[in-house]
Amino acid sequence: MDLTIVVPTFNEGPNVAELLRRIGDAVDDRLFEVVFVDDSTDDTPQIIAAAAQTADFPVRLIHRDAPTAGLGGAVVEGLRAATSNWCLVMDGDLQHPPEDVPRLLARADRDDVDVVVASRYIAGGDSKGLADATRTTVSRASTLLTKSMFPRKLGDCSDPMTGFFLVNRDAIDIDALRPRGFKILLEILARRHLRVGEVPFAFASRFAGASKASFTQGIRFLTQLLMLRFGRMSAFALVGGVGAIANLVIMWGLIRLGMDYLPASIIASEITIIGNFLLLEYLVFSDMRAESGSMRQRFVKSFTFNNVEAIIRIPVLWVLVENAHIPSVIAAGLTLIAAFVVRFVFHALVVYAP
Ligand code: GDD
Ligand code: MN
Repeated sequence: MDLTIVVPTFNEGPNVAELLRRIGDAVDDRLFEVVFVDDSTDDTPQIIAAAAQTADFPVRLIHRDAPTAGLGGAVVEGLRAATSNWCLVMDGDLQHPPEDVPRLLARADRDDVDVVVASRYIAGGDSKGLADATRTTVSRASTLLTKSMFPRKLGDCSDPMTGFFLVNRDAIDIDALRPRGFKILLEILARRHLRVGEVPFAFASRFAGASKASFTQGIRFLTQLLMLRFGRMSAFALVGGVGAIANLVIMWGLIRLGMDYLPASIIASEITIIGNFLLLEYLVFSDMRAESGSMRQRFVKSFTFNNVEAIIRIPVLWVLVENAHIPSVIAAGLTLIAAFVVRFVFHALVVYAP
């Protein structure tokens, strides 16, 4: 096999036959297979299986019953399952025209690159298929932000957010990838310095159905950026900071409703602990969830730990002030820093332990 075409799909039934037909017409000079990695909740897998029967090239279907890491996770699964080193990743909704695939392959044939990116943002490319001005602006702005955070690794890539690219699997370390949400190319390029080639392409309109992009995907993307650049602890710290502010706002609200400050503080802390857990679950440790027991078990550990930690911090503070004679505000700051580190270590090694 010369090429594996990896197509992530989520409820794309009406696009499957047309996609395969156009791939078959466009790529005729080499042996290739198509691997669908499907997380659909509708009849898309049946449609793919039926289409596979009539295609005159191999079509494989990997259906994930318990999908992890969304679109990016699906692509990684496809890369793992590929039978050739060169893998082409493209969407299943025909926004990535199969007719452009030969140009990507031709660029890779020059043998001087590990990745060929189909870019909307170089001369000859265009992003009109993004449909509305908001998405175009968000895409442009997030591309700039991303490139500024990885000036060297993304130096040769004008479109790190594209979902249309060709990659040599030998050049990447699949096990080091931590996909979360949509931006899998960014994950690949930011982990290791790769040689990037680009060809322009025009992002087309969807053939059928609607986009799965969402506000949640946007938050996932920002988390991914933070983690790639500054590590998991930075995302953990940000979530903790947001929690601290929420804690105070809730407490203030309850006091305004007439509650006494002590019960208000306790209720605000418990709400924050629960909210904090959910953010850790869906953002910071989302990639470690699948291997670490049930959500309920994790919640019990996290909730217990945070409460015990809050209770222990008071006597520790007392010892620091009374016995070690550290000024109380500095002592309180020290206990908070220590609590932050211990909490991070506990969550990374115990709550989300495999
Ligand atoms: N397996 C799987 N699991 N596939 C998914 C999932 C998922 O959770 N979510 C989306 N997909 C599939 C869709 O079925 C489609 O084939 C492809 O991924 C892209 O999803 P769309 O919903 O069409 O996304 P988009 O068009 O808004 O975004 C595309 O363009 C962006 C550039 O602006 C994607 O290519 C993005 O990766 C890209 O960044
Ligand atoms: Mn799309």
